Amino acid sequence: MKGKAAVYPGTFDPITNGHLSIVNRALKIFDKLIIAILNNPQKEPLFTLEERISMIEGIFKGKPNVEVDSFDGLLVDYVVEKKTNVVLRGLRALSDFEYEFQMALMNRKLNREVQSIFLMTDYKWFYTSSTIIKEAASLNGDISGLVPAAVCRKLKEKFGY
Ligand code: PNS
Repeated sequence: MKGKAAVYPGTFDPITNGHLSIVNRALKIFDKLIIAILNNPQKEPLFTLEERISMIEGIFKGKPNVEVDSFDGLLVDYVVEKKTNVVLRGLRALSDFEYEFQMALMNRKLNREVQSIFLMTDYKWFYTSSTIIKEAASLNGDISGLVPAAVCRKLKEKFGY
């Protein structure tokens, strides 16, 4: 596909409606989005890499301008490998800012050609994160409306209810 692509990296354990909102809004700016899942078993994710890939592929089935992939190693090297120079990240509260700023500056130190672009989350998702959603789901809390229906089902399966 021709045009400008951006890499949207993350752990996506699991993908939430907040992530989806960032993807859909980014598609109004970029021609293609590569959702790049970090393959880091040390993080001890709830969902395996294969499960996360399959959930995200299911959600974006029929959207040829969204590619789902995984990476390990340095993000900036992966971005170059994908023949682009844009990293997209979503920003929620102030608490995200320090971490994102640090990461963007480190990525810039590692490769000055790679640009980090941030989209503010929609107010609806301001308080949500994969971590807090997993915690609520593990305690049988109602997390419908915060994650896509398929992810909601998978969470229920994982926590055995
Ligand atoms: O969803 P997350 O967990 O906040 O995503 C973090 C991620 C995957 C973007 C970050 O950990 C990452 O880019 N890791 C790859 C390793 C790397 O390049 N590190 C140096 C720059 S900080």
